[in-house]
Amino acid sequence: MEDENKGLPLHIGIIMDGNRRWAKSKGKMASEGHKVGADTLDKMLHYANKIGIKYLTVYAFSTENWKRAENEVSVIMKLLKKYLDDFLGGMDDENIKVNILGDISKLNKSLQKSLNETIEKTKNNTGLTFNIAFNYGGRDEIVRAVKKITHKALLGEITEDDITEELISENLYTKNMPDPDLIIRTSGELRLSGFLIWQSAYSELYFVEKNWPEFTEKDLDEAIEEYKRRNRRFGGK
Ligand code: FPP
Repeated sequence: MEDENKGLPLHIGIIMDGNRRWAKSKGKMASEGHKVGADTLDKMLHYANKIGIKYLTVYAFSTENWKRAENEVSVIMKLLKKYLDDFLGGMDDENIKVNILGDISKLNKSLQKSLNETIEKTKNNTGLTFNIAFNYGGRDEIVRAVKKITHKALLGEITEDDITEELISENLYTKNMPDPDLIIRTSGELRLSGFLIWQSAYSELYFVEKNWPEFTEKDLDEAIEEYKRRNRRFGGK
């Protein structure tokens, strides 16, 4: 799906990769890479909203990221908390709606509270929907959907014939949202790493060498221009 008027992607996904490599290249600690990465995210969010993007989904913490050093995990958690408390406090002005994709029950109580408050506070906003994928994994998301559907089947609420692509989509975290049109990954890695694996079936993929902390508004513009140039066929034509 796309914005008819400007040919803009309606939904952009970003795998914000390369924070630690950026930090290392500057002789800084990994935590500094994540801090600057959070600033980049803030810039991109406001810019995407300004140019009329309707959905922005960012991969901030994967189900695999728990394996990282305790200190690094704690830095990312604190950054999310600070991000919600500092930046999202003023976001109502920009009409942004915040959403979380992932299992937040594993996060500490104060972070869960900030998340729930932010989601509640912004739920009626009609501007850009900002999805933060946090403690998210694409396979995990599909397993959860299958469990929910199985539960309904066991209760006799649905039968085999009710199992359709739409039913699966409705049981994902992205329920009622369009699939991403464009997925960007920074830092030169050419993988999706479990990001929106069901939803990305027809997404245009765009890879850029730059590490996330140095990604700019101009880089986002270039990704969108490339998206516009591609002729998407959805396998049909
Ligand atoms: C990938 O780079 C980045 C992450 C795993 C964390 C992403 C987090 C942020 C951008 C900041 C947090 C912001 C919020 C709002 C939670 P990497 O650490 O894998 O870097 P590398 O590939 O160079 O090792």
